[in-house]
Amino acid sequence: MTARILVTGGSQGIGRALVTRLLTGGHTVVATTRNPSQQPTEARLTWIGLDLETASSIEEFCTNSIWDTPFDMVVNNAGFGLIAPIESAEDAAIRAQFEANFFATMRLTQHAMAHFRTFNARGTLMVNTSIGGRMAFPYFGYYNATKHALEAAYEALWYECAGSAIRIKIIEPGFTQTQFATHGMRSSGASHPSHVDALDRLATAMKTGQTASDPDVVAQKIESALFDQSNRLRYAAGKHAGTLLFLRKVLPDAWFQALVKKAVLRS
Ligand SMILES: NC(=O)c1ccc[n+]([C@@H]2O[C@H](COP(=O)([O-])OP(=O)(O)OC[C@H]3O[C@@H](n4cnc5c(N)ncnc54)[C@H](OP(=O)(O)O)[C@@H]3O)[C@@H](O)[C@H]2O)c1
Repeated sequence: MTARILVTGGSQGIGRALVTRLLTGGHTVVATTRNPSQQPTEARLTWIGLDLETASSIEEFCTNSIWDTPFDMVVNNAGFGLIAPIESAEDAAIRAQFEANFFATMRLTQHAMAHFRTFNARGTLMVNTSIGGRMAFPYFGYYNATKHALEAAYEALWYECAGSAIRIKIIEPGFTQTQFATHGMRSSGASHPSHVDALDRLATAMKTGQTASDPDVVAQKIESALFDQSNRLRYAAGKHAGTLLFLRKVLPDAWFQALVKKAVLRS
């Protein structure tokens, strides 16, 4: 079966790898980016502008004629990261992070739900959170908080869709080698004297990315989750993601915290 699928943030990284896979599979894809005129044209692919931090862009996107034809699947993938100490992050940076990753994503979630209810009362709705939606890492606290919020909302939505033909899915990637660490990462309050050295070490480790997965590995997992006919909610994706989620579940907090401290802060 071929499907019509919407992917937000399809221009780079995981979203781009997913779009490529879906087109190869014969599907029709609508993908979003903040720069639609700069994207390559391909058969069965339409680019639409969407800026998650601009209310008028979201409203324009929701009223676009792409919604006049039924989507079989909607993947909320777009988002960015904020690397910032909890104590020194600026208020504007924290709010922008929640605006894009949580509030805009939930506005699109509500829009996709209304769309599925209108057409055939069926469809698959997915959000890309992170393993950081189920645990927290130093200096990623605000980013992780947006992903925890999405996890809670989608878990609640899963119950609310029980008994319908609307499937709710969460994809939880581990660290993935994308533009996320460069193009997709903002920082705030990073010159705080208690954190500047640790943040420097972290930035270098992220750029060398030895433990990161290839985005296509994550895209492959997203594709199989999208076409999984079961009602399963969560899917880990990429190197170490499943192991870390398992350890978070079974280890006492203090053991897990010691592990993260050693891995991320090297202490
Ligand atoms: N990389 C990782 O290690 C990792 C791990 C777990 C989860 N994730 C999640 O995976 C998703 C994709 O990230 P990625 O790693 O593929 O990053 P990426 O390479 O930076 O790609 C991010 C995508 O999201 C779009 N985007 C970013 N900020 C946006 C905004 N304010 N408004 C509209 N679109 C925006 C970008 O589109 P344009 O720039 O073209 O507008 C781009 O297509 C994110 O939700 C991220 O949290 C990433």
